[in-house]
Amino acid sequence: MRHHLKGKDYLAFKDMSVEELTFITDLALDFKRKWTTREPHEYLKGQVWAALFEKNSTRTRNALERAAADLGIKLVYLRPDELQMTRGEPLKDTARILDRYFDGLFIRTFGHEIVEECAAWMRTPVINGLTALEHPTQGIADIMTIIEKKGQLKGLKMCYAGNLYNVAYTTMIFCASFGIDLAMACPEGIEPDPLIWAETNRRAHLSGAVITLTQDFDEALNQADIVYGMSQYSMGQSEAEIVHLKASFKPYQVTLDALAKAKSDAIFMHCLPAHRGEEVTDEVMECSQSVIFDQGENRMHAIKAILAAVAD
Ligand code: CP
Repeated sequence: MRHHLKGKDYLAFKDMSVEELTFITDLALDFKRKWTTREPHEYLKGQVWAALFEKNSTRTRNALERAAADLGIKLVYLRPDELQMTRGEPLKDTARILDRYFDGLFIRTFGHEIVEECAAWMRTPVINGLTALEHPTQGIADIMTIIEKKGQLKGLKMCYAGNLYNVAYTTMIFCASFGIDLAMACPEGIEPDPLIWAETNRRAHLSGAVITLTQDFDEALNQADIVYGMSQYSMGQSEAEIVHLKASFKPYQVTLDALAKAKSDAIFMHCLPAHRGEEVTDEVMECSQSVIFDQGENRMHAIKAILAAVAD
């Protein structure tokens, strides 16, 4: 498998072209077919990758473990508290050492500048497993899920109900890239990252997608093909911030009544973990329109495709 992503870092949708996103999504769908038909695909046998998770994970960590196993990659899990970085060793030294031992680094961390610094100091590929700015392994799984459930991307409308963090930003970029209209329902005072907003608008201009921020939840739900629920707050925020956000996002909870305002065949998506009773009700999570577990499974196929695309 030779193509231009080989040996490249996989850090953010904002840095990737529509063609690159399409290539990886198609590869992920093909890996899903292979998984379903039990066709072996140990394409990366002999490779050894490092995995560093500085934040909790159920889906990303375990999807990575399984994807690596199926591809024949040995994965070495680095416990952040065991690294000398916790005793002050600079990231740039750690990155250059890991680069000498491993064929690539999969990292979940805090600031996006951390993955960018790793990528700057490493010759081997770095894959972003979540930063404050983007969640690009989630994004491929979400695009796959929409294609599987709706058979198309262009011309759809998504209503996004939740705060504007990493998943929101990756979603904004892919909706704008593929011509999906996106209405983001948020209370007053929630503003997107300016760099992501500018890139979203640049891409929307090219694709024809209509991307809006609105305080009117009904307007965002109207004619939506997809309702995407998302947490009202993020890992690491203070208790006071969380209390404030929960109160201001209360009117934007995805209930069965809210879902009924979208198209009758609308799907409900959520990257998980969900806070049942906060951004979404238990009834919506469990209803027939909910595709959250297919979406969660697709994390594994997506990560497999990303590994296969960038591994050298
Ligand atoms: N959606 C997601 O990234 O899940 P985890 O935090 O469990 O990895």
